Amino acid sequence: MIVVLSGSNRPEAHTRRISQVVRDKLAAAGAEVALLDLQELPPGVFEPTSYGAPPPAFLPWKRAILEAHGLVTVVPEYNGSFPGALKYFVDLLDFPASLKGLPTAFVGLAAGEWGGLRAVEQLELVYQYRQAHLFGTRVFIRRVQDALAPEGGLRDAALEARLDALARGFVAFCRQLRT
Ligand SMILES: Cc1cc2nc3c(=O)[nH]c(=O)nc-3n(C[C@H](O)[C@H](O)[C@H](O)COP(=O)(O)O)c2cc1C
Repeated sequence: MIVVLSGSNRPEAHTRRISQVVRDKLAAAGAEVALLDLQELPPGVFEPTSYGAPPPAFLPWKRAILEAHGLVTVVPEYNGSFPGALKYFVDLLDFPASLKGLPTAFVGLAAGEWGGLRAVEQLELVYQYRQAHLFGTRVFIRRVQDALAPEGGLRDAALEARLDALARGFVAFCRQLRT
């Protein structure tokens, strides 16, 4: 199972729509896929007591990451970095088991010109610290508000092709690391 993690809890986030596109492309590449969307985190998760004892509703989230064979994180740029909610989510995962040895890939997006490059590269440092295996191909989506077609896909065929290539390459990367 490859998990696609939609890395913002902002209502109406473009990140969710891009995550759905990525999920569909991974499925087309032959993977079993699940989408985890930070918008759906149970509210109790944000209580300070969660560091010691996350609410029971968070356990399926932790389990999904622990049992994943691959993780694609879709990362929007907030203030030149990735969202605080995404870091908080990572902070609540079991250490060190959750990300250690896990194949991981990244898709960045932003309203601005840099397409989430800063956000992805900063998150890569965190995943590297957690000893994940980072896939070298990343996709960055600039001016994301113009990139999405009203019916759900992407307007730009070249961008579609880059995401297709990422999906195919990452599915192969996950298989290689499992054998
Ligand atoms: C708190 C916040 C900070 C943001 N900071 C940046 C930024 O530093 N650079 C940028 O290009 N866009 C920035 N944006 C715009 C997001 O990139 C934009 O909302 C985009 O659609 C991706 O995020 P979304 O999933 O929330 O829609 C910011 C948005 C929010 C909500």
